[in-house]
This record gives sequence, C-alpha cells and structure tokens, in this order.
Amino acid sequence: MSDGNAIKLSDKPEVVIEKVTGELSVNDMNDLCDATDAAIASGGGFGWVKLPARDIMERYWHGIITIPTRTLLVSRLDGVICGTAILIAPPKNNEAQNFAVQLTSLFVTPWARRYGVASKLLEKAEEIAIEDGFSVINLDVRETQKAAISLYEARGFKEFGRNPYYARVEGKIIAGLYYTKIINPEIVV
Ligand SMILES: CC(C)(COP(=O)(O)OP(=O)(O)OC[C@H]1O[C@@H](n2cnc3c(N)ncnc32)[C@H](O)[C@@H]1OP(=O)(O)O)[C@@H](O)C(=O)NCCC(=O)NCCS
Repeated sequence: MSDGNAIKLSDKPEVVIEKVTGELSVNDMNDLCDATDAAIASGGGFGWVKLPARDIMERYWHGIITIPTRTLLVSRLDGVICGTAILIAPPKNNEAQNFAVQLTSLFVTPWARRYGVASKLLEKAEEIAIEDGFSVINLDVRETQKAAISLYEARGFKEFGRNPYYARVEGKIIAGLYYTKIINPEIVV
C-alpha cells in the first residue's frame, strides 16, 4: 500500500490507534516496516540508527508482537500504519516495581507528522496502562528529540534525570532525559 513519502491523505485524515493482539497482515507489516524505515532515515530517535535489512525489521516487529510483556500500539492515518508505541511491563519477579510500565518506541513516520497522531498514541498508551493496573509510566528520550520532549511535557510527564552518556549516533555521544508520569494517583497516597 505505502510507498515511502508518496502517501495521499484525505483533507481531514482519520487517526485510529490499535492495540496489536495477533499477527499483522502482510500489507500492515509492509506499511509498518516502511514507516519505521522512513522514521529511521529522518533521524530515528527510538533506538535504530542505521536502516536494517527488511527481513531483520520484520523479525523485530514480529518479536515485539509475540513477547508477552510487550504491548504494541500502532497508529493509522487514513488506514495506513504510520507509527507505534510500545509498553513494557516489568518481569513477574520484579514485585518492587510492579506498578510502573516503560513506554518506548514512540514514533510517527515523517509523512504522518503534525496530525495529532503521537498525542493519540500517548493517550491510548496511558489508557491501556491504567486498564492493566499500572500507576506510573516511565520513559527516556534523547535530549536532541525536541518534538518528543515537547509532546511528553505537554501531556504531563515530569523530567527527573539526565544521563550525559545516553546514546551514540554517528560517533557522537548524546545526552538523554528521563521522564515519569503518575497515571493513577493511588501511588502517592
Ligand atoms: C515526536 C513525534 C512522535 C511527534 O509526532 P506527531 O504525530 O507529529 O505529534 P503530534 O502531531 O501529536 O503533536 C503533539 C505535540 O507534540 C509536539 N510536537 C510535535 N511535533 C513537533 C515539532 N516539530 N516541534 C515542536 N513540537 C512538536 C507539540 O507539543 C505538539 O502539540 P501541538 O500540536 O499542540 O503543538 C514525531 O515527531 C517523531 O516520531 N519524531 C521522531 C521519533 C521520536 O523522537 N520519538 C520519541 C522517542 S522517545
């Protein structure tokens, strides 16, 4: 369906967020990989630095879908998968931190940006985290990802730390920021 940046959107494109509960169709997997490739090529920000081969990318997403402690959300704009967010639950033995879930891999591919897709991904991720019984969402982000930082702060995430040696991109060390948000006030009583 998709072809890099050649997506033709309607005048008011519809944003839909879905929790992935089984295997993706071949078309959806292609769109997800296209979306990821384009996001990595434009600066990534969610781990990948270089474009992996397509079979590696497909295996990566397949792995995420099948790991029980991972919840994958995908966003669609006019029906085409254009971004993701992943919630990582703590392992069962980690009783001391069983109230906190980690949000990772939030991205929206370049052609789908500024339509409110990431805001809706984040809103849905928070909704699911609450439904799953979590009280806190933690995340970290490169200091250079200004759009993401602005998004997180607008949705009430509070910065609590900075790691000066967080990521290496094209040989350059980049700092990272750590954020947290209480999504269920019972944690603070
Ligand atoms: C950050 C990112 C997910 C935003 O996606 P998006 O769908 O365009 O974001 P939205 O349209 O929902 O915008 C929501 C808010 O994010 C912030 N934002 C988004 N793009 C921005 C930009 N280019 N500059 C500044 N703020 C921006 C704003 O606060 C915006 O609210 P506003 O529209 O009221 O100003 C997207 O730019 C992206 O994928 N970037 C690369 C990957 C990345 O950094 N991921 C986070 C890793 S932890």
